[in-house]
Amino acid sequence: GICNSALFNKMKKTSIFINTSSFDVQLWDSNEPLPKVELLRGVAGAHGLICLLSDKIDKEVLDAAGTSLKVISTFSVGFDHLAIDEIKQRGIRVGYTPEVLTDATAELTVALLLATARLSIAKRLKPFGVTRFLYTGRQPRPENAAEIQGEYVPLDKLAEESDFVVVSCALTPETQGMCNKDFFAKMKKTAVFVNSSRGAVVNQDDLYNALTSGQIAAAGLDVTVPEPLPTSHPLLTLKNCVVLPHIGSATYATRGTMSVLVANNLIAGLKGESMPSELKL
Ligand code: GLV
Repeated sequence: GICNSALFNKMKKTSIFINTSSFDVQLWDSNEPLPKVELLRGVAGAHGLICLLSDKIDKEVLDAAGTSLKVISTFSVGFDHLAIDEIKQRGIRVGYTPEVLTDATAELTVALLLATARLSIAKRLKPFGVTRFLYTGRQPRPENAAEIQGEYVPLDKLAEESDFVVVSCALTPETQGMCNKDFFAKMKKTAVFVNSSRGAVVNQDDLYNALTSGQIAAAGLDVTVPEPLPTSHPLLTLKNCVVLPHIGSATYATRGTMSVLVANNLIAGLKGESMPSELKL
């Protein structure tokens, strides 16, 4: 009973109380990414797993976990690091963190636009008077587009007519390598390319060639293959390319909110309750 009204009265109104004492928690307490061998060892017999997008949850990990594993709670909105078909087959539930990181990532994307748009074309953003928004995707999303009067166009037209191309889609077999030499060839010479989704959506060799041949003006990348890029990578030598180490959601406030959501997703899953944010498999 030590967590009683005396304690709760002292807590901030905005604080969230989570009791994990009914769980036996194993923690990878290091700033280094969790090595695969440690993951394979740690997951054996576990009921729940919290992972980052740098942890590939593939068939090998799921096999190592065995039939005890019931819930995966990923600290990300993206789920291309999860072997979804294998997970679904095993009846494992997945929690993720949509919405809570959208603002932080959008702000970083604008920061990348500003950082890259300094070359030759800053006046086009000034004073953020962007008047025409084009978007593409598998299907039109009129509700989302209404606010900015976004116009749904095919990918080709988007490449041809945009001054700023921003990629924020999920990585899927359909989008893998989507921004390739044909795509960059269609873009305006004065246009800026920004990617804050997944590095593998872009063919990086083609992007390098487009940037060095003047086919496009500049690029801002929060995501690359691999992450982080090795310091000797050719993209890092270019004056017209700004590269960040995948920090779209990395504000204290957003990561704090994500942490709580990740824990609540896991706990709800372990109790067999509905999760605050469950991925529909
Ligand atoms: C960030 O890239 C995420 O998927 O959360």
